[in-house]
Amino acid sequence: MVSLLGNTFDPNTEIPDLSGKVYIVTGRSAGIGFGIVAHLLQHNPEKIYLLSNKEEHAEEAQQELAKKWGDASKVEWRQCNLESLKQTDETARNLANELTRLDGLVCNAGLGVGVYNESEDKLDTHMQINVFAQAHFILTLLPVLRKTKDSRIVSQSSDLHRAAPASTKFESIDEMNQDICPMYLYNRTKLAQILFSSELLKRIKAGQFGAVTETEALPWINCMHPGGIKTDQQFQAEEAYGSLGKIGSRLVRPFLADPVDQGCRAALFATTSPDIVTEQVQGAYIVPESKPTDPSNQTKDEILSANLWRLTKEILESKIGNLGYTM
Ligand SMILES: NC(=O)c1ccc[n+]([C@@H]2O[C@H](COP(=O)([O-])OP(=O)(O)OC[C@H]3O[C@@H](n4cnc5c(N)ncnc54)[C@H](OP(=O)(O)O)[C@@H]3O)[C@@H](O)[C@H]2O)c1
Repeated sequence: MVSLLGNTFDPNTEIPDLSGKVYIVTGRSAGIGFGIVAHLLQHNPEKIYLLSNKEEHAEEAQQELAKKWGDASKVEWRQCNLESLKQTDETARNLANELTRLDGLVCNAGLGVGVYNESEDKLDTHMQINVFAQAHFILTLLPVLRKTKDSRIVSQSSDLHRAAPASTKFESIDEMNQDICPMYLYNRTKLAQILFSSELLKRIKAGQFGAVTETEALPWINCMHPGGIKTDQQFQAEEAYGSLGKIGSRLVRPFLADPVDQGCRAALFATTSPDIVTEQVQGAYIVPESKPTDPSNQTKDEILSANLWRLTKEILESKIGNLGYTM
């Protein structure tokens, strides 16, 4: 994709005034999610819903936000363990019922390179947390996003999507529930996030969720890579790869960027910048800080994205039941 945009985005000065705007961010106290929430708060939104699992992280975030970033009472934490589709569904439906507008949904929460586990829904936790649960969030909140002018759906992918296994088909739960190694488990989810976003965009445009009109609009749907960022994700890799992981992580960490200064920039560009609208940045893969870039060929495979959509539908329908939307 040819970019007319530059490659910088300073959230301190380039996020416009967010008065009246409402955001949902999945994320927490110290990682990239915190950086995203902090800079949104810095620019005076109406409300930010911060969704994560661990209460202690949310409390720390609240304290840090109050110290430096603005009126922390505008940030409301909702506990949502994405490992539980039942709890994800409850949180998503509550928000969908409560909100009259939603300017941005930032799907940032995620497991990093890490060991294979299965969730209470009997699914690979990497695919459940990073992809299926957040897909349900997006689809449940889609009506309110579509009612809000120039709303954004933002998914925090990674350049590691380029190293997803070539054998990936997204054909069945059995295929997902294989321990294919910590790195591949992660990379596969980052590929899936881009595929899901492009399939969603295609289906909204085609009218699957109702005609696209001025009042029922098409949100700006983009994915990004945040950069190599110093967060707890490296500790997950250490756990997965033992001493080798520890050595790798210690070698790499000094060169990684800060999540609050740097790691949040591409996501904040996609979530708030007027350039997204003026330059029509739609269905893009953005690399730091604001550059739409060509993702891997696997992300353009229409069979893969159709398979992933079908599998997501099968999983959500079988684990949640009545979804409240038709996939
Ligand atoms: N760090 C990097 O270099 C890098 C590079 C490329 C992409 N990314 C992506 O950036 C995003 C943020 O990562 P990060 O580096 O900031 O890592 P992080 O500090 O480990 O943050 C991960 C977030 O995911 C949340 N999460 C994990 N499991 C959850 C669950 N079961 N339910 C709800 N929330 C859950 C955590 O919430 P709790 O507070 O509840 O634990 C935390 O907010 C991820 O999607 C990651 O893949 C990071």
